Amino acid sequence: MDKKEIVLSGIRATGNLHLGNYYGALSKFVKMQQDYDCLYFIADLHALTTNPDPAQLHENVKNILAEYLAAGVDPEQATIFVQSDVPEVSEMYLLLNMHVGIGELMRTTSFKDKARKQLGISTAADSDEEIEKQIIGTNSNKRVNAGLLTYPTLMAVDILIQKATKVPVGKDQEQHLELTRRFARRFNSFYGVDLFPEPENFNFGDHAVKVPGLDGSGKMGKSEGNCIYLVDDEKTIRKKVMKAVTDQGPTEPNQPVSEPVENLFTLMELTSAPEIVTHYRDAYADCSIRYGDLKKQLAEDILKVTLPIRERYQEIRADDEYLARVTRMGAEKARERAAATLAEVKQAMGIRKFY
Ligand code: TRP
Repeated sequence: MDKKEIVLSGIRATGNLHLGNYYGALSKFVKMQQDYDCLYFIADLHALTTNPDPAQLHENVKNILAEYLAAGVDPEQATIFVQSDVPEVSEMYLLLNMHVGIGELMRTTSFKDKARKQLGISTAADSDEEIEKQIIGTNSNKRVNAGLLTYPTLMAVDILIQKATKVPVGKDQEQHLELTRRFARRFNSFYGVDLFPEPENFNFGDHAVKVPGLDGSGKMGKSEGNCIYLVDDEKTIRKKVMKAVTDQGPTEPNQPVSEPVENLFTLMELTSAPEIVTHYRDAYADCSIRYGDLKKQLAEDILKVTLPIRERYQEIRADDEYLARVTRMGAEKARERAAATLAEVKQAMGIRKFY
């Protein structure tokens, strides 16, 4: 049998997962697990960059783990693990940092966004200079931590230590993947080795799915009134959908669709049968549409996706023994490869033992 390509992806351990995570990540994880050698993990070390409450962090890891499993990620087919259960990652993170420039990390969009927020700098044109000034200045000792800066190093290590070549992630992670490729090339060429393959993003079809939120603009995120959690109960989901932002309704035939309404159509395209979508598109075009009906239908179809997940979630989430078994098994598999790569990395760098 051919050796299957290695797929790796992770989700940061912050809060519960929503429909955006489901269509953007989880459903792909499930589709890929049969055809590829898949590793899926929960990034608890990455979550530390925002200094979460310790008890809450552990709960979050547990929730996401149970959500992976409830959504159909199968521990018999894929390797499911918790990032911190693989200490080789932390060790290689130190080593790889020796080949990562502070400047390239500071220029990363995700870093600039987060640093700006932390420092209270607006998105004005000269904000790059302001970030630098404030970070290097004496007053910002801890407002932007070094872990946040080196977030991309840690992510690159997650990927490179498993020698993954396919990394299914959303658009917002493209830049981190680009850095990962750069670090891989740099390491290989610096030490004259061929240790790391260059990973690429993976999408079914040719474009990343963008799952819109319910508040009229942008993608689904964790903000109030915008997102549907996989574990929301029936009443909550109906209520959220019925409250979704729309507009006054079309007044002439074939009028262009406004963003809030287009967002609802997009959600329908993800969750409803094609004839249903066509029905409402046609109703929009001839001005007979009633948004209330569309929303009722949409809520119904979303519930068909989420309710079974919620049911399985509740069962799995309560089964500590099962969760322990899954993560122990996953950690063993993930560590085996990680240890092998780490040994190669240390050998290449000249970190060698006398005994
Ligand atoms: N940075 C990713 C996110 O926020 C999570 C992540 C961490 C990840 N390490 C990874 C994703 C490695 C893919 C591969 O979504």
